Amino acid sequence: MIPSDRLVIFDTTLRDGEQAPGIALTPDEKVTIAHQLAKLRVDILEAGFAASSPGDFEAVTRIANEVRGPVIASLARAHPDDIDKAYEALKGANNFRIHVFMSTSPIHMEKMLRMTPDEVFRASVEGVRRARQYTDDIEFSPQDATRSDPDFMISVCRAAVEAGATTINIPDTVGFATPADFVELLQRVFKEVKGDRDDVIMSVHCHNDLGLAVANSLSSISAGARQIEGAINGIGERAGNTSIEEVVMAVKTRQDAFGVDLGVDTTQLYETSRLVSRLTGYPVQYNKAVVGRNAFAHESGIHQHGVLRDKETYEIMDAAAVGQQAAQIVLGKHSGRAGFTDALEKMGIVLEDEAYARAFERFKQLADRKVQIGEDEIRAIVEDQIGETREKVRLVGIHVAGGSDLTPIATVRVVKDGTEQLFSGQGDGMIHATFAALRLAFGTEAKLLDYRVVPVTSGADAMAEVNVVVQIDDRTYAGHSVNTDVVEGSAEAFANALNKAG
Ligand code: KIV
Ligand code: ZN
Repeated sequence: MIPSDRLVIFDTTLRDGEQAPGIALTPDEKVTIAHQLAKLRVDILEAGFAASSPGDFEAVTRIANEVRGPVIASLARAHPDDIDKAYEALKGANNFRIHVFMSTSPIHMEKMLRMTPDEVFRASVEGVRRARQYTDDIEFSPQDATRSDPDFMISVCRAAVEAGATTINIPDTVGFATPADFVELLQRVFKEVKGDRDDVIMSVHCHNDLGLAVANSLSSISAGARQIEGAINGIGERAGNTSIEEVVMAVKTRQDAFGVDLGVDTTQLYETSRLVSRLTGYPVQYNKAVVGRNAFAHESGIHQHGVLRDKETYEIMDAAAVGQQAAQIVLGKHSGRAGFTDALEKMGIVLEDEAYARAFERFKQLADRKVQIGEDEIRAIVEDQIGETREKVRLVGIHVAGGSDLTPIATVRVVKDGTEQLFSGQGDGMIHATFAALRLAFGTEAKLLDYRVVPVTSGADAMAEVNVVVQIDDRTYAGHSVNTDVVEGSAEAFANALNKAG
């Protein structure tokens, strides 16, 4: 049983977070993130929605079998098939949870489900009962709770508890609530659903459509919520979910206001944020609380002066407490294996042999072009090598010819079917031409859905992260790369995505 002063952190980066437009994580990438979430010591890790696709089923199964520490959860509609699939995927875990959901708002029931309130009530109870055959750790969520008739939504939740649900999660699915009305609703849920049942816990799941997800989540603690759901970097449907890192640091920094304990290792927050950003291709805004690169940077002279005298003049948290330390490690082209290994050790990064070899090779290539390589860049290089895909076509080189009044022509040199071959393409610009050449090399019509370039550091020789998402048939694949040259980096990221399509 959860002590009443413990706040459970339920991470849904790999389920709701992954539903964000343009994110297409492979099962390997999900497993990599899941291991990092275990290192962060989240309590519950929602690994996916097992019944939603074969890819999700594979990811949930692998995470259940391979990742130890958190309770592993899968989402399931209140349908027998979904619940059976969730169990099939989860059964290898040491501890697992089935998360059953069903909409209770009039608009969802009428327009989406085409079910009457009675049918919704019955299906919710049957869903929880079915999950109960497999586990006694069941979460029930009345979707769109904040736009539901509170009496009806509460009656469904009560019935779910009677059927065996042990966590009742109140989702603000469309980010409609404000802290005051959310607390009022939760006070009713606490009293009328949880009551004096010590084995039942009230949870919240907030979306950020009005920018209130974190505020709503934190306000729920005063109403008795002891589980908060969210995603790293706040990713998720539309404007996203509650940011885990913000909730965690608010609760830790303002113990006086919240008075609940956490199991999270906050020093892993920055690393986790970087990894999620890297693999999803969603950049973290510079001024993002806790994990943004400027979260601990001081620009004005007055601020710098104050911080030099005493950090607490302008800092309420210690950068080290979230794993964001001022960059101290700098490597250069003369740094060898020992220096690189030492830097990784100092940064707490452990790599398998193969990933280490690839990361070191990449480091040497980039160090040849760049005088100094700092911590952020080392991290970007390393993250780029995690979960490397087998390459059907290996990009060896690229040459782009053109000028302001000429149509650019890109020629890519690739190794394909064991031989080196050249392919050329034209386009409106250098990147467009490069992608055209790569489409020919891979023999695909891949459609480019998303393309983003984010500098890792500043300066003329800055390294940039390039992220692309492509669509082939009805599937999407994400690719990324880190390079000092944007055209080369774009080519590498595009080739990386096309190689994932196999
Ligand atoms: O936002 C939502 O309502 C959800 C539920 C499935 C919990 O993600
Ligand atoms: Zn959601």
